[in-house]
Amino acid sequence: MVSKRSSLRSTICFVFVALHAFADAGELVVTTDIYPTTLQTNSTSENLPYSDSSVISLSRSNPTTVLDYGTESAGFPFIEVASLSDPGVQIELRYSEGKAYLDEPQADGPWTFSNGLSNTFRVETFNVTEPGRVQSFFIQGGLRWQGIKVLGDASITISRVGLASTSDNTPLDELPGYFESSNDTLNQIWGLGARASQQACVANGSAPSTWEITDEGAFIRGQAPAQSALGPNYSNYTMTFSTKIARGGTGWRVAAAVGGYGPYLVLTSEYPEGTFLNTNRSLLPPNTLVTGFGYSLVNQTTLTTGPVVQYPVDLVIRENEWYSISTSINATGYSVSINGSSPIFVSNANTVPDWETTFGANGDATLGTWGFGPFQDQAAYVKDVSVTASNGTRLYHNAMTSESPTLTEYGVAANTHSVCLDGAKRDRLVWSGDFLHSAFILAHSTGRTDFLSETLAFLLDWRGPEGSIFADLAGMSPKMGSSTQYIAAFADGYGLLDYQFLFLAAAGEFYQHYGADALPALRSHWDELKGVVTAVLQLVNSDSGLISTSDALPGAFFLGAANGTAPSSAFVYALRRMSAVASAIGDNSSAASWTATAATVADAINARLWNPARGTYATDIASFANSSSVSGTAFAILAGVANATQALAAVAALDELRCGVGYKDNSATDCGESTQISPNTNGFLLSAVASVLSSSSSSSEHDSDETTTNTTEASIPFLHLLTSLWPSMLHPSYASGASWEYLTPGLSRAPIPALSAYTSLSHPWGGAPTYMLPSFVLGVRATAPGFREWQVVVPAFEAVRRDLGVSWARGRVPVGGGGSVAVEWMREGEEVEVVKVRVSAPAGTKGRVGVGGREVRGEKIVSVEGGGESVVQFELV
Ligand SMILES: *[C@@H]1O[C@H](CO)[C@@H](O)[C@H](O)[C@H]1NC(C)=O
Ligand SMILES: *[C@@H]1O[C@H](CO)[C@@H](O)[C@H](O)[C@H]1NC(C)=O
Ligand SMILES: *[C@@H]1O[C@H](CO)[C@@H](O)[C@H](O)[C@H]1NC(C)=O
Ligand SMILES: *[C@@H]1O[C@H](CO)[C@@H](O)[C@H](O)[C@H]1NC(C)=O
Ligand SMILES: *[C@@H]1O[C@H](CO)[C@@H](O)[C@H](O)[C@H]1NC(C)=O
Ligand SMILES: *[C@@H]1O[C@H](CO)[C@@H](O)[C@H](O)[C@H]1NC(C)=O
Ligand SMILES: *[C@@H]1O[C@H](CO)[C@@H](O)[C@H](O)[C@H]1NC(C)=O
Ligand SMILES: *[C@@H]1O[C@H](CO)[C@@H](O)[C@H](O)[C@H]1NC(C)=O
Ligand SMILES: *[C@@H]1O[C@H](CO)[C@@H](O)[C@H](O)[C@H]1NC(C)=O
Ligand SMILES: *[C@@H]1O[C@H](CO)[C@@H](O)[C@H](O)[C@H]1NC(C)=O
Repeated sequence: MVSKRSSLRSTICFVFVALHAFADAGELVVTTDIYPTTLQTNSTSENLPYSDSSVISLSRSNPTTVLDYGTESAGFPFIEVASLSDPGVQIELRYSEGKAYLDEPQADGPWTFSNGLSNTFRVETFNVTEPGRVQSFFIQGGLRWQGIKVLGDASITISRVGLASTSDNTPLDELPGYFESSNDTLNQIWGLGARASQQACVANGSAPSTWEITDEGAFIRGQAPAQSALGPNYSNYTMTFSTKIARGGTGWRVAAAVGGYGPYLVLTSEYPEGTFLNTNRSLLPPNTLVTGFGYSLVNQTTLTTGPVVQYPVDLVIRENEWYSISTSINATGYSVSINGSSPIFVSNANTVPDWETTFGANGDATLGTWGFGPFQDQAAYVKDVSVTASNGTRLYHNAMTSESPTLTEYGVAANTHSVCLDGAKRDRLVWSGDFLHSAFILAHSTGRTDFLSETLAFLLDWRGPEGSIFADLAGMSPKMGSSTQYIAAFADGYGLLDYQFLFLAAAGEFYQHYGADALPALRSHWDELKGVVTAVLQLVNSDSGLISTSDALPGAFFLGAANGTAPSSAFVYALRRMSAVASAIGDNSSAASWTATAATVADAINARLWNPARGTYATDIASFANSSSVSGTAFAILAGVANATQALAAVAALDELRCGVGYKDNSATDCGESTQISPNTNGFLLSAVASVLSSSSSSSEHDSDETTTNTTEASIPFLHLLTSLWPSMLHPSYASGASWEYLTPGLSRAPIPALSAYTSLSHPWGGAPTYMLPSFVLGVRATAPGFREWQVVVPAFEAVRRDLGVSWARGRVPVGGGGSVAVEWMREGEEVEVVKVRVSAPAGTKGRVGVGGREVRGEKIVSVEGGGESVVQFELV
């Protein structure tokens, strides 16, 4: 797969970094070559450092090498070939985030849930015909490990291996936000979310189209089929197209959901001489119509697909020849005719049980759109696509020879916004519910406000279709590559209503952190943001006073049941933050009305969900007597619904949710070997618990002497999460250098990724320590928007000093105005314990410096003006 994109390469070269630019659909895509850190070959069983003089020679006796990029990385894989034994040496490349999955048949893929403008497959084959650079056509969205294997009897010498990277590879210690301490485990944990957001946030124009439009039609290499956004409502039609197989086979769908779930049909070629030696001929025999029903032809963890049924065809299917294929839908299946031959009937009974209710399915085997995408390592042209209704009316035609609108119609156009995806390798969708953790992380690491403002703009562009009940809601999981002109095809994609709250909270956090710098973006979207708030206000139930779905706005909540603490508190949290934005923008009536509504809902939560006997918030009113939840506890604290006494008690009550290395989502969930522990919800909890610990032990909040609260109980979850959950992500078999999506509790063995190979090991939602550690261990927090006023509270509480062994910390938090608040503190002294704090902050800001949790001799709180460096010293009593 030699890409045309490598042809315009090379502008600047460093020893280890080369910049490349290539034209894609008129856009210039800039890439930087990055290289592995270590390699291992058959002749060297240990890891050797990879350098620019590393030469990899592969042959039958020494067929494989394993390369480690050291941390989560992304880009177009390439090799530079010095010599080869014959023209047409086949090499297989495989990629994974966790090392443990590299040798699985499909490594840790494929990603069949969506076509995320990246390679669907984690195993790909190059046909190397001459020395020089060979680069994959596709981005690998996220990987740490790579294997290369020469196939057959050939041999090859490779002088360079790398990734033409499209993402941010700034070393973590050079980022605008940084955290470091005397405890290296904490430092590594801090880096997980930072690295995840560097790889999962994709800059405008850096994910090119995965289709190539040519005069001969769309040239489509093996990938998850991409569907037309024009066909979701058509049923019982005949779809015809012409196809020319360039390699291996051609693939298509009919009667599919626009996301892709439905029948999948692949026609294989005769497999001429030179066909890839690693072709799976038992799954894909030559001259065969191979069919599956669901996401693909292979199962992938939670994405099951019906059994594969193979239909040998009577023709010899030649490569580089055109065939005309027609597929007709009726109530019992799909009739496929090739060049007018007598049809092959593919029954629609070959499904998985209850597929109609499977997430992603449209529920009707006769209804839905069409799409195209050959299987792994195949490639084919597709042109002249027509769709005809059963009454003979032509419904659709596309010659597939022009980029516009074909690429956006099929959702495979280059990305147009700088957006944060849920994960680097998958789903590669812009999930609005993930945006809050991403926003916090960006603000404490990469400082990339372009990702904040453009993700916000993108999600607001994808508001529901005009006239629908979702018309004012922000997008829930829009994908790169499409266009809002096709919004009607995605009309039902708004079902997780609390994702709106998390989205609004992220917009609010943008303002809290960046102050005036965030206002232009927020002001330019104010009507839309206000529309989102107005829409979700409908969720306040007039009987319970809590947040509930309704006929006016149907759906579900991700964080917990309706009339429950989690969605209700997350709503209060979002509304309070949006009300601060409204004030800043000068929309005082909205600010006042939202503040009042937030107070009313907060009162209802305390009246109906606080269980004083149990000392915690119930999951929901239906389970009042005996329940609690991680998200409910976390958001009740974060939203200020819980008072200090309630917060401490609720944190102590978390013990009933403890499950292995973390906390299970709620008390109704069993704690077993395969329970999913969510770093997303546990991350909100970590932040909430840290704030309880800090405020109950902080003398800087109040000038008066404060009785020292017993914080042991609040320390327990704080320490448990930091010493058990996040260090699990450093496990050598799975560590990617980035934060994970889910993990198992590790009851009888070490915790592992909970969706096995499918788990995203670069998910910003799992990276809460990246903002919690700067806020509560370095101790830097805003007390006015944009850090115009700030505080530094050195945590002297025992949990940090004794249990985490932190004797010093240093770092910086990027703030509004382009500056940062930089802090270094250290504890010194034997007889007399002294805490020395060095602070610098932008001119025009001011702050207060203090020590939390311990009495000090002399001044407890010291006021500091920004603009220079200040050194403050406290003597602990
Ligand atoms: C060495 O080669 C064998 C196959 O011959 C392979 O299974 C093994 O993984 C290779 N070892 C390394 C380190 O590449
Ligand atoms: C690989 O290249 C050789 C030499 O050009 C060619 O004969 C063979 O068909 C190619 N194979 C594939 C799978 O592209
Ligand atoms: C996928 O798993 C389902 C359920 O276990 C099974 O029925 C189906 O045959 C499998 N599909 C494939 C392609 O292996
Ligand atoms: C669907 O088409 C197939 C093949 O022509 C035929 O055998 C079958 O009876 C049809 N089903 C219905 C319900 O018409
Ligand atoms: C497709 O046709 C069948 C048989 O005529 C019918 O039962 C079914 O409802 C149709 N599908 C849709 C979505 O209208
Ligand atoms: C034929 O079917 C199409 C699609 O169902 C429909 O829009 C159209 O009105 C029908 N035409 C006639 C003449 O019935
Ligand atoms: C929420 O509680 C109210 C009052 O008890 C009730 O009317 C409503 O149906 C509940 N909502 C849901 C989704 O159960
Ligand atoms: C906190 O809330 C509880 C429960 O409503 C109440 O009993 C208590 O007095 C409150 N404490 C403070 C300090 O407001
Ligand atoms: C603080 O709380 C812990 C846990 O409940 C308890 O074991 C300890 O004795 C308490 N310490 C003080 C000083 O009250
Ligand atoms: C450093 O922090 C980790 C948790 O991240 C903890 O397990 C470890 O005990 C700490 N090290 C010291 C020396 O306290």
